[in-house]
Amino acid sequence: MKRILVVGSANMDLVVRTARLPKAGETLLGGEFMTAFGGKGANQAVAAARLGGAVHFAACLGNDAFGNLHREGLAGENINLDALKIDRDTPTGTAVILLTESGENTIVVAPGANNALLPDDIQALRDLFNTVDVVISQLEIPLDTVETTLRLARECGVFSILDTGPARPLSPATIALADLISPNESETETLTGIHVDSIESARTAACCLRDMGGKEVVIKLGKRGCLYLGQEEFYQPAFNIDAVDTTGAGDAFTAALAVAWGKLPVPEILLFANAAGALAAMVAGAQPSMPDFAKVTDFLKQRGAPVDWKTN
Ligand code: RIB
Repeated sequence: MKRILVVGSANMDLVVRTARLPKAGETLLGGEFMTAFGGKGANQAVAAARLGGAVHFAACLGNDAFGNLHREGLAGENINLDALKIDRDTPTGTAVILLTESGENTIVVAPGANNALLPDDIQALRDLFNTVDVVISQLEIPLDTVETTLRLARECGVFSILDTGPARPLSPATIALADLISPNESETETLTGIHVDSIESARTAACCLRDMGGKEVVIKLGKRGCLYLGQEEFYQPAFNIDAVDTTGAGDAFTAALAVAWGKLPVPEILLFANAAGALAAMVAGAQPSMPDFAKVTDFLKQRGAPVDWKTN
């Protein structure tokens, strides 16, 4: 069982379905409203646990109703919460999500307690770092906390994955701290200045990220699939699906990378991650949509792309 530490955010997602996005200054009558547990860190922790990882989650929630509910939800996923912090002075992070009929979303995050996860909280986890195989982080917590996480992972000899969402510019020094970085198309543009709208432009951007210090790069290309660049390059097309809600699909993808890394050849890891992301996009809500291991392997079999875990 892969031992995975996720250091990141936890939000309550407030989701409104709408036929289209409002213009500036416009009020729209929307459709259905739902709440769901979200936050890139928490989503990745839940996905990694459902995919078979033994997961620890380091995060910060507020001492409020959203925080209490989310903590219960995470505990019910068999995630170790010893590294979970509660901040009495700030509310739990929230995300306001507008979801269009095509399944695409726009998200505004009020980070709240996520900003109270500090470098010292991570430094205090050195013993935990020494017991895990992979550390994952994202950019929804303070940047110096992310950098401390990646540095500590390196000091402890633990493989680190940086999911670069939400889009923030990063210095080459920060990019170089991660063993693997995984941006989506818009995050890639923020990091490199290269607009990604094709496999070719993704390839150019991946080379640029390597020039900036990235060791291994996996660019999430949504409907186009994903592109890996390390010593070798692999492209894996996406599965053809009817997406109902893409919220959290990238988080399922990143968690699948963490679970499969080192256990399969890279092309099969990318297949497994594409399948996890596709399944997440076929169900509404962030954490409610995270698939488990059986669902992903069944999907791969149905699509004629079985991944053979036994021989690896
Ligand atoms: O990646 C999806 C997540 O982004 C949502 O769950 C929302 O909380 C934001 O963090």
